[in-house]
This record gives sequence, C-alpha cells and structure tokens, in this order.
Amino acid sequence: MSHSKKLLISSALFGVIGVMMGAHMAGAGSYALRPIHAHVLVVGWLSLFAWSIFYKVYQPKNGLLPTFQVWTGLIGAIGLNVGMYIFMLDTVPLSDVFSLIFYIVSGSILAISYVLFFILTILQPDD
Ligand code: HEM
Repeated sequence: MSHSKKLLISSALFGVIGVMMGAHMAGAGSYALRPIHAHVLVVGWLSLFAWSIFYKVYQPKNGLLPTFQVWTGLIGAIGLNVGMYIFMLDTVPLSDVFSLIFYIVSGSILAISYVLFFILTILQPDD
C-alpha cells in the first residue's frame, strides 16, 4: 500500500475516533477526554491527512527518509494518544513509571516524524 493511502486510511480512522470522543464528552458532560480528543484530531486526523496529500501531490522518491517519516508519524500518532490516555486519565491499571515512559517515548517518536517531514519538504525539487 502506498504511503499516501496508508496515511489517508489512518487519518480517516482517527477522525471517526475523535468525533466519537467529542460526542461522548458532550453527552457525558465531562471534558476529561479533551486533551486526547484534541490530539486525536489535530495529530491523527489533520496531520496524517496533510501528509497523505503531500505524498500524493509531491510524490517524493521512495526511500528510507519517506518510509521513516511515515512510520514514525503513524506509530507516534497512535502512541501519543494512547500514552496521553494512559498517563492523563489513569484508568488503565499500569505503573506510573511505565505510562510516563510510554507517553514520552511516543511523543518523541512523533516529534521525530515532524522533523523528518521538515527535511523532506526542503529536499523537494522546486516546481
Ligand atoms: C510530542 C508531542 C506532543 C505532546 C507531548 C503534547 C502535549 C500536550 C499537552 C500536555 C497539552 C495540554 C493538555 C491539557 O490541556 O490538559 C497539549 C495541548 C494541545 N496540543 Fe499538544 N502535544 C504534542 C503534540 C501536538 C501536536 C503535534 C499538535 C498539533 C498538530 C498539538 C496540538 C495541541 C492542541 C490543539 C492543544 C490544546 C488542547 C486543548 O485545548 O485542550 N499537540 N498538548
């Protein structure tokens, strides 16, 4: 499956999860999920969708850099949101140390994907 398609399907799934969280928050009258809702939508839905369009439109040559960018983006987006949920909501019976490390490592992987994307944009040939 192409990078663009992988990112497109993942972003759409994040969109569904994020909108359901919003509906749940409104229905339950509790905004505890707010930070996760925000990151599911702005990192999961919007950033992955934007990257999907980038790969479709700019068609960067296949290679290690795009592959690393896509996989750190996907793993980082999933990890950050799961990590934030585990760390902030404390509803999953895991040790604080584990949930903190999971959250930090996932956030770091996501941060790497943004840096790799920045490098990719610089390497794009001018039109
Ligand atoms: C290493 C990755 C990241 C970490 C660890 C992180 C962490 C956080 C934290 C702790 C908050 C405050 C949550 C609260 O109000 O309780 C926050 C808010 C927010 N972050 Fe991030 N963030 C990350 C990446 C991003 C990215 C890449 C975006 C956008 C594409 C983003 C968009 C937002 C937004 C919109 C809010 C405000 C949410 C609200 O109003 O509740 N974050 N972030």
